[in-house]
Amino acid sequence: MKRSINAVYPGSFDPITNGHIYIAERAAALFDEVVVSVLLNPQKKAAFSVEERKAMAREALSHLPNVKVDSFSGLLVDFLRQEQSRIIIRGLRALSDFEYEFQLALMNRQLAPEIETLFIVTEARYSYLSSHAVKEIYQFGGAVHDMVPPGVFRRLRERFPLPRNILP
Ligand code: PNS
Repeated sequence: MKRSINAVYPGSFDPITNGHIYIAERAAALFDEVVVSVLLNPQKKAAFSVEERKAMAREALSHLPNVKVDSFSGLLVDFLRQEQSRIIIRGLRALSDFEYEFQLALMNRQLAPEIETLFIVTEARYSYLSSHAVKEIYQFGGAVHDMVPPGVFRRLRERFPLPRNILP
């Protein structure tokens, strides 16, 4: 009998961007099930609550039937064990991501040697894109509508109303 293979794609997703969606789409094409899991970290100040981040991710990934959205707190490897998964998916943009990702992957391997981190390289047009950049650009009146899905753009407008003369 064929064993089904599931993977976990963790992150802050504050908010989900088109770059994240691209990685989720590629992961969904490789695995039977992908769990996009939003980190609940009370120590890190987020622009959106976990429930809002999950709702935005769910909306943005609804075209992928084998992707589900969840959240986790505590250690990522504990969440993987709970999900009975052995694969962590992370997206890689520029070389600058590498050092942080390398450390994260080695830490997780130290904690759980049976778990593997797999990197999916982003597409060139998303290589500069991050949730942090989206929030900053938006708040200074820059155009972000082609960087995030429509539901995120709507929520950004609700969360950070801009002066009338600035219409991103
Ligand atoms: O989108 P992000 O903020 O780059 O995602 C980072 C994330 C959520 C993958 C990472 O912070 C994480 O796994 N946090 C959970 C705590 C943990 O397991 N730490 C041990 C590895 S250093």
